[in-house]
Amino acid sequence: MEPKVRRIGVLTSGGDAPGMNAAIRAVVRTSHSMGIECVGIKRGYHGLIAGEMTPMTPNDVSGITSQGGTIIYTARSPEFTTPEGLKRAADNCRYSGIQGIVCIGGDGTFRGAQDLSKYGVAVVGVPATIDNDIACTSYTIGYDTACNTAIDAVDKLNDTMRSHERCSVVEVMGHRAGHLALAVAISVGATAVVVPEKDIDLIESVVRPIREGRLRGRTNYTIIVAEGASSADKVAEVVRTETGIDTRVTVLGHVQRGGRPQSRDRVVASQMGYEAVKILASGGTNRVVCYDGSTFFNMPIDEALSMKKGLDEEMYNLLQSIHSGV
Ligand code: F6P
Repeated sequence: MEPKVRRIGVLTSGGDAPGMNAAIRAVVRTSHSMGIECVGIKRGYHGLIAGEMTPMTPNDVSGITSQGGTIIYTARSPEFTTPEGLKRAADNCRYSGIQGIVCIGGDGTFRGAQDLSKYGVAVVGVPATIDNDIACTSYTIGYDTACNTAIDAVDKLNDTMRSHERCSVVEVMGHRAGHLALAVAISVGATAVVVPEKDIDLIESVVRPIREGRLRGRTNYTIIVAEGASSADKVAEVVRTETGIDTRVTVLGHVQRGGRPQSRDRVVASQMGYEAVKILASGGTNRVVCYDGSTFFNMPIDEALSMKKGLDEEMYNLLQSIHSGV
C-alpha cells in the first residue's frame, strides 16, 4: 500500500528514558523500508520551533540501541505552549515538508502533539518515561531499566546497612506516581514504601514495621520513598526520632534515567516505534501507541490523556504481606 505521508519527523521530549534510542532507530528504519523520508528533530519541540532538524538515514541510527539517553537530545519547551510557538513549529513543518511526527515522551509530550495536530500536522505519541505513569498503556519505555538501576543501587546500600545495623531511606523518582517506588520496594525486600497514591501515616506504615522487625531480631531496614509522596529526609527524621536507629538517606536522582537499556526497553521501544510509523503511513493522526502486556494497539490522544492510572493495589497489598518487618 502506498504510504499516506512522504516525509515524517521524530522527536524526543521531556525527561529522557533508556530505550528512546531504540524507538528512534525503529522509526527511522521502518520509514526507510516504506519509502518515507525521516527527519530527526533536535531538542524536542524546542527544535521544531527553532528549525533544528536533520535528515536521518538507516546508517545514522546504527549501534544506538545499547545507548541510554537520546541521540537527538530532549528538552522541555515553554514556548511551545504558546500560540506563537505552535504556529512557528507548524510553519517549520510545512517549509520542511514534514507531514507527520512521531513524538516520543510522556503525557506533556502528548499534550504538545495534540496541540500541534490542530495546525494540520499528523502526530503519533510513543510513551517513554521511567515513571510508567501513563494510564493508556501498561508499559512505558525506560521503566524496566530505571527499576533495575534503582534495585542495583539499593542492593549495594543494603550490604553496608546490614554491616552497620542501620536503616536506609532511599528516595526514588516517579514524578507524582509510586509505580517505580513500589516495584523497587518489592524487588529489594523493603521494610516499607511511601507512595503518593496512599495517604500514609508514617508511624503506622514505616515505624511500626521497623519496630516489629526489631522485636524479631532484625537489625537493618530499607524504606523506599517515592519523590511524589515525601522526601527521604523527612521520613528519615521520623524514623530516627521514633526508633533511635542510625538512619541514612540516599536520593538516587537522575542516575535512574541513565544507563544501558535492558532487553525489555529495547524490544518494546522498537515495537512502539514500528507501530507509530505504520499509523502515520496509513493516514492516522492524534494517536498514542499503547501496550497491554501482550498486544500493541493505539487510541486517540485526548482519550489517553483523560485516563487515570492508579497504583496496582495487589502489588501494594503484597508488599504489606511480605515486608521485611514481618
Ligand atoms: O518524568 C521523568 C522524571 O525523571 C521524573 O521521575 C522526575 O520527577 C522528573 O523527570 C525530573 O525532571 P528533570 O529532568 O527536570 O529533573
